[in-house]
Amino acid sequence: MALLSPAPITLFGATTPSGQALIELAGGRPLVVAGRHPPRPPAGESHPLPFLPCDLEDASGPHQAPTGWLVSFAPIWSFAPWLARCASHDPAGFAALQGVIACSSSSVITKRFAANGFDRDLVHRLQQAEEQLALTCSTQSRPLRILAPTLIYGQAGSLGDRNLSQLRQLLRRLPLLPLPGHGGLRQPIHCRQLAAVALHLTDSVTQEGFDPSQPVHLPIGGDDTLAYATMLRRLQNATEPGDAARRCRLLALPPRLFLTLAAPLLLLSPKTFEALLRMSANLSGFTPVHRILGGPPQAFPVLPLAP
Ligand SMILES: NC(=O)c1ccc[n+]([C@@H]2O[C@H](COP(=O)([O-])OP(=O)(O)OC[C@H]3O[C@@H](n4cnc5c(N)ncnc54)[C@H](OP(=O)(O)O)[C@@H]3O)[C@@H](O)[C@H]2O)c1
Repeated sequence: MALLSPAPITLFGATTPSGQALIELAGGRPLVVAGRHPPRPPAGESHPLPFLPCDLEDASGPHQAPTGWLVSFAPIWSFAPWLARCASHDPAGFAALQGVIACSSSSVITKRFAANGFDRDLVHRLQQAEEQLALTCSTQSRPLRILAPTLIYGQAGSLGDRNLSQLRQLLRRLPLLPLPGHGGLRQPIHCRQLAAVALHLTDSVTQEGFDPSQPVHLPIGGDDTLAYATMLRRLQNATEPGDAARRCRLLALPPRLFLTLAAPLLLLSPKTFEALLRMSANLSGFTPVHRILGGPPQAFPVLPLAP
């Protein structure tokens, strides 16, 4: 099966860490950035990338389908209806697309049985968007991969994650952090690894499309699966020697005691309470990134980290 020569990529979500990482990794590959705001030029370059102003929520657009690949790190519930409009407004242009890679979230799996309405609504929106994307692409026989990453962390260019970096800030502020035992398992993925997967997929398509043995929906995580407490300890160890985050003591409480102490949150914020409950759940078992990219597994944390 002959691989296709790399086509230009139109990138949504360029102002996310994963989008920034894709820009850094793309090398000389033609890239157009689409979105509401143009990203800063890549580090060391003074020229901005070609920019396509495009609000995915603008119900009147698009009038013309982009060419080449579409890669999206924007919210999938905005991207999926936009793509459906793209197929109906410009069917010939859409049929000429090389393929689509869209980022969803492993929350579609891990929050499926959530008790709070916010998370149930999130799962519903993710599921609906994934189904709409699949329908749009299968109707026009366009190759599609939906990436469903778990916890994305790390820094690319000037952009950093807002989850593990916030945990690191918490470690800097608190002398002691209570945990439910050692916590459940996590499989965090660095934004650069996620971007590399998207690029790898655009390079691995053939005339016949993607490898049919691979699923369209690809839940993906980092190479390391580790307990919540170990993840925090590794984050502490990855800070500079004098960093205040190193001084925070991780206190493994019996899980029932932890939840009893957290119980008042059930009245104040059921969503936050369920997030604490989820600390004991195993949110892992996703395809490790090295299995897609080849090469040796990379230990957590992959650098650079957000400050
Ligand atoms: N953060 C995580 O741990 C995590 C975990 C699993 C999956 N994900 C998925 O990974 C991707 C990146 O996540 P994130 O948290 O870094 O970013 P995010 O907040 O989900 O998405 C922000 C990006 O989407 C673009 N965007 C939003 N609305 C848009 C619109 N109407 N038109 C055009 N562009 C729009 C933004 O561009 P501008 O604002 O610059 O226009 C920005 O680049 C998302 O698909 C997310 O669902 C994230």
